[in-house]
Amino acid sequence: MTLSRRTLCAGTGLLLAGMLGLAGCGSAEDPAPAPSSAAPAAPAAPRQFLLGAAGVGDAYFPTYGNGGYDVSRYTVKVRYDPAEDRLTGTTTVQAAATGDLSAFNLDLAGLTVRSVTVDGAPAKHGRKGDELVVTPARGLIAGNGFVVEIAYDGKPEPLRNEVLGSGGFLHTDEGAIALGQPESASTWFPVNDHPSDKATYDFEITVPKGLTAVSNGVPAGKSTTGDWTTWKWAERSPMASYLSTVVIGKFRITEGEHKGRPVFHAVTTDLPSGAADRSIADTVEVTDYLESVFGPYPFEAYGGVVISDARIRYALETQSRPVYSASFFSRGENTAVVAHEMAHQWFGNSVSLARWQDIWLNEGLATYAEWLWAEHDGGRTAQQEFDDRYAGSSGQVWRTPPGEPGVPNLFSESVYQRGGMTVHALRVAVGDKAFFEILKTWAAQNRDANATTAEFVALAERVSGKQLDDLFEAWLYGKQRPDRPGRV
Ligand code: TRP
Ligand code: ZN
Repeated sequence: MTLSRRTLCAGTGLLLAGMLGLAGCGSAEDPAPAPSSAAPAAPAAPRQFLLGAAGVGDAYFPTYGNGGYDVSRYTVKVRYDPAEDRLTGTTTVQAAATGDLSAFNLDLAGLTVRSVTVDGAPAKHGRKGDELVVTPARGLIAGNGFVVEIAYDGKPEPLRNEVLGSGGFLHTDEGAIALGQPESASTWFPVNDHPSDKATYDFEITVPKGLTAVSNGVPAGKSTTGDWTTWKWAERSPMASYLSTVVIGKFRITEGEHKGRPVFHAVTTDLPSGAADRSIADTVEVTDYLESVFGPYPFEAYGGVVISDARIRYALETQSRPVYSASFFSRGENTAVVAHEMAHQWFGNSVSLARWQDIWLNEGLATYAEWLWAEHDGGRTAQQEFDDRYAGSSGQVWRTPPGEPGVPNLFSESVYQRGGMTVHALRVAVGDKAFFEILKTWAAQNRDANATTAEFVALAERVSGKQLDDLFEAWLYGKQRPDRPGRV
């Protein structure tokens, strides 16, 4: 759901009209070579149907996502039987071609594809590792919408990323948990798995009666037939695929309404009622505070899910309904993590990365939101939080540039803490009035879209009227501790 230009690849032998002998990877938008002036006027050239690229070309994760089309909506209907660890699904993808396509890829890890249709007609399909290659009966024309329906099943497996650990679908004692950053969705549905292609989602998750299936967005009904219950969820704001989740199990559910939007919290019954429930219940209060500094909450629902699984020791800002490890609440109430995950709803989720190397835009701003919330809540001030880190951060933090951390350091302390310090250094440089205007304008201007570090810097300079290249250069890209800024 973006307007960014996507690549198409001329795979040798895969062109339907491969008369130009294109080599390597081109773009469907590239102009055709000019005819030689000596040649007689040629008849209109046949359309060049190209193969959609097997990745969007992210510098850190070149195979993530696919080229040649832009998804607007996913409808994911899955049935999961925990006793058998078996998923059966049908996913419908509504997309538009961005070039003339002879074939295109979706990302799908494991699972067995049973059938694929494009616009209702059976399509050829094959697998190349974690890519599903779909060849429709007829080429797809640039700009035209098309609908892909994929039926599949199997035993879902998490992804194993050597550097970042696992993400994706995990079978638990009584259910399942699917989440993970920078990728996870392809373990349970076919997807264009890169945040540059945001889309809306409808989920229908069928589980054994007695279990809950929680996902993103607005609760859209629940019905039981025989021994199975179908839980429906609708995420109506464009969402990056890594922010999708499904959590299946036994939960204490709290439902309510806040500012006319549904609230849906779920805490695993593995935990006795206590600090986790109380922390999650504070979600709306924390979010109301964040609205006062970031501008209007960007989504249609609120919530939080608390899970207890030894393999997941983090929280993730899954859209409109973050998932939290119970470990965050083992020492009592913790609203700092709620402030962090809810801040991501603005920074990361509504305003999304266009490329993974800009991750500090998510994590630096979410970390800074923790400091703002602590101060608002009567705790330590943002200045104190900054001072501690400026004085006490390790050499590793100062050597690692958060603006270009590299894949192994994508979620490192530098990205989070030095990212947060960068935000504070900006605040000191421009003053509070310009600073909060920058944050609100960033959220408003890029709502439901994708943005880059360069755009953030440009906005900060425009709003403040200050030249900030040196500040961002030192804080985001320098390999040593920047000079100490003044104080707020
Ligand atoms: N983005 C998450 C947060 O800051 C943390 C995180 C990093 C994460 N990598 C992850 C969560 C992988 C789940 C899976 O809150
Ligand atoms: Zn975060």
